[in-house]
Amino acid sequence: MAFAYRGGVLCAEAVPLDEIARAHGTPCYVYSRAVIERAYAEYAAALAGRDALICFSVKSNSNLAVLALLAQLGAGFDIVSGGELARVLAAGGDARKTVFSGIGKTEAEIEQAITAGVLCLNLESEAELERVAAVAARLGRRAPVAFRVNPDVDAKTHPYIATGLKQSKFGVAQEDAERLYRRAASLPAVEVVGIGSHIGSQLTEAAPLIEAAKRIAALAGRIEGAGIRLAHIDVGGGIGIRYHDEAPPPVAETVSRIAGALSGRHERLIIDPGRSIVGNAGLLLTRVEYVKPGPVKNFLVVDAAMNDLLRPALYGAWHEVRTVRQLPPGGAVYDVVGPVCESADFLAKDRPLTAQAGDLLAIMSAGAYGMAMSSNYNSRPRPAEVLVDGGVAHLVRERESMEALFALEHRPA
Ligand code: LLP
Repeated sequence: MAFAYRGGVLCAEAVPLDEIARAHGTPCYVYSRAVIERAYAEYAAALAGRDALICFSVKSNSNLAVLALLAQLGAGFDIVSGGELARVLAAGGDARKTVFSGIGKTEAEIEQAITAGVLCLNLESEAELERVAAVAARLGRRAPVAFRVNPDVDAKTHPYIATGLKQSKFGVAQEDAERLYRRAASLPAVEVVGIGSHIGSQLTEAAPLIEAAKRIAALAGRIEGAGIRLAHIDVGGGIGIRYHDEAPPPVAETVSRIAGALSGRHERLIIDPGRSIVGNAGLLLTRVEYVKPGPVKNFLVVDAAMNDLLRPALYGAWHEVRTVRQLPPGGAVYDVVGPVCESADFLAKDRPLTAQAGDLLAIMSAGAYGMAMSSNYNSRPRPAEVLVDGGVAHLVRERESMEALFALEHRPA
């Protein structure tokens, strides 16, 4: 167990979390290298012997140390902005193993991606195809492209993170796909290399992923029938993790079933997981500032807030809360809230916990879409990040300074 109690104190691998709090302060994100490696290895093992590429979805956790670790393990990357491309390159990632998704790529980002030599730009509209072709022509290059096709499959997840239904802003409609592929194939400045889909995130059932893969495989067959040969099929990310009582099917099993859905196809399989690689590899370490009993609710007011971990406020997401000192739960029932001036600023609700002011809490399963979605709201410097490797805690991002908050701002003379 990467996060377990030893001698009455919750540890990340072999490092007690109270030591990390002493050395680096709170709030602080703490990641386990071993958990990231294990999660990546599960994907790699499930795809062994098959022409496949695992493109880690950078948006879930974009810390350079995390990206560098995954690059060393052989991962490619799924990016959605020029900023993410810059991070991948800074971390030693390979542009030729990087796919660029997203519905709003700017000209500058397209130029950056073509110049860097990415594996593929995943196009999400006809207008984007024309723009990519124009930029590539101006650069005297051929841009490798795929279309992200919307397979119209219900991912059965939170509506904010479901992306595969017809009404979604993502992808192109299946019925438009063949026409768009023919158009792309007619443009000398683009090279059609693949097809992709992504139906949503935190999927706790495999069936929608399998169904989407089947539909995309069938479409790849029709496109090939039109004389356009594809090199890869990108099945997206989305495999869920256990936050509470969810029981997502094991990664190995889901990946094998996806591969099975593509069994008649010759294309290379690309998969872009984010959450299932880093989600359970991280926690947010926070300190109780005040215990505030109330007439209806009791509150633990902590030093982390919605700006540090937005998921509970935005999606009503449930994250397990553990006390760093091993205590029997059930001292009282608390809402764990931050200091931000919003009633949505909660990290957990109605938890039986034993805690006093000064105690440390760990908000679990915060390795994905935690720090990556943080902000400076209420002029709060963002937390430090620590990557634990066995008995060593590496500070991989410093806590932001107060000066950094307004370093880019100017007062008119
Ligand atoms: N590929 C594409 C094209 C994506 O849009 C995403 C995530 C992924 C891969 C990775 O999906 P994953 O394996 O992590 O499920 N902020 C939300 C999640 C948003 C996901 C957006 N797209 C949350 O905190 O739950």
